[in-house]
Amino acid sequence: MTSEGSAEIEGLNCPVNEIGRRDALGLFFGASAALALSACSSDTSIDGGDQTTTPSSPATELEGTTSDLTLNLWAEPTTAEITPGVTTDVYSFGAEVIDGDPASVTPSDSYLGPTLHMRTGQRVRISFENRLPDESIVHWHGLVVPQDQDGQPADAVAPGATYEYDFIVDNLPGTYWYHPHPHGRTGEQVYMGLAGLLIVHGDEPQLPAGDNDVALVLQDRTLGSDGQLRYVNSMHDQMAGFVGDTLVTNGVTNLNIEVRREAYRIRLLNGANSRTQYLTWSTGQPLIAIAIDGTLLPEATAVDGLMLTPAQRTDLWVDFSTFEPGQNVELLSADTFIESGSMMGNGMGNQTESDLDLDPSVAATFIVTDSEPSPGSLPDSLGTAPGFGAADAVNPSAPKEMILSTRRAAHWINNDQWEGRVASDVETVTANTVELWEFVNQSPMAHPMHLHGRPFLVTSRTWDDDSAAGSWAAIEPSIIDSGLRDTVLVWPGQRVQIAIPFADHLGYFLYHCHILEHEDGGMMRNFLVI
Ligand code: C2O
Ligand code: CU
Ligand code: CU
Repeated sequence: MTSEGSAEIEGLNCPVNEIGRRDALGLFFGASAALALSACSSDTSIDGGDQTTTPSSPATELEGTTSDLTLNLWAEPTTAEITPGVTTDVYSFGAEVIDGDPASVTPSDSYLGPTLHMRTGQRVRISFENRLPDESIVHWHGLVVPQDQDGQPADAVAPGATYEYDFIVDNLPGTYWYHPHPHGRTGEQVYMGLAGLLIVHGDEPQLPAGDNDVALVLQDRTLGSDGQLRYVNSMHDQMAGFVGDTLVTNGVTNLNIEVRREAYRIRLLNGANSRTQYLTWSTGQPLIAIAIDGTLLPEATAVDGLMLTPAQRTDLWVDFSTFEPGQNVELLSADTFIESGSMMGNGMGNQTESDLDLDPSVAATFIVTDSEPSPGSLPDSLGTAPGFGAADAVNPSAPKEMILSTRRAAHWINNDQWEGRVASDVETVTANTVELWEFVNQSPMAHPMHLHGRPFLVTSRTWDDDSAAGSWAAIEPSIIDSGLRDTVLVWPGQRVQIAIPFADHLGYFLYHCHILEHEDGGMMRNFLVI
């Protein structure tokens, strides 16, 4: 989109193409991606501080190097001011660095957990202590880790107990998050405040960093007149997913952020339980996406509106140099999901474009300060195009069907629901192969489907029943399917085909709807990698 091509990634002694190749292979070979990457030396710094971390260690020294990170992480009941002057009971993650770069944990000013900063190839040990009155466990959403590091419901620990994590960060740099995953309680615990950003750092093309790297966690809450959080209280909430009446961004209502007249990277996470957000800029400018679900797009993609489902991330590139000092640039959010994709919304998903003219609310306001304008430029090439496609699958002409349905006041996958650590034949896959799956949505609601630790590529969207095709046509320009995802929106009547490389971590991993009330209600299963 701009002038500066980059033949080499700054600060890195490997040519881009070389990284690209390894990158694509890494999807198949798991940990070897990190090994391959760390063979290229680098000395880039962690954002949010002036600290320069130790250069990546050679592959052979991955275990036990000084760049390791050891953290204590806990979840506990506490209080927060979500809206000014009102004290609300919440749950919150806290963390401290026991060993490693002190900038690896940056506290939030809200109920949100601190942002955890990790590096590709880094060995991370985390001791999680559950100080909640209920069982819990922490999942690193998007990270590719072994089964016992994944934070699955079966690993939930009792109040007062701890769970020890020890894994190597295998993912390329990008935006991830962490949240609890106890079965039946995930929605409530996330809603009570348990969520935080997890940012993987490493070798990236030159993008805005430091103060110019801003993250927004988009959520919603309903506060009662007593100032306390209100959660699911009806069958409707359970079936449609709970949507709060107020947007809460970075843990507060009415978030304002001062920005200089420079380029910024704005990392967006939809951390809401159920609300799919249709995002626009108040200025009418396009949103320029540079990464989705933790992976840099091959090239920047401009959209007029951006559909972000629960758990999805999009990193935006924004150049504030074109604005006048004092100007407010608002990130607007409309809840199109309930209106267009919900069985409870009017018309069962049959809306048309005019329904996108919903009254959007302000998710965050960027206030442009009086500073010298310094226009930014975006690298021509960002990430690597995924090195595989439908043709690489072991079942190119017989994709596996995962049928999503709604009946008996519940949501189902292939007529099954959560039943612990079991997987059916169709859910059993062979390590180091690519499979084609199709999410076939026979439910009247849209479902954002997520797979643990297996970034995938959307290879086609077709219709089994096109009665919701009209509303889809309205939002389709806001859907980015061109890079790897870990969560994909499946519209009612749609058949979404994905190609999934099953990396070599063996065992059970979850796939589920990321509407947390659906997940808690049983719309969650395992795939078993053998
Ligand atoms: Cu955010 Cu099972 O995941
Ligand atoms: Cu996940
Ligand atoms: Cu769902």
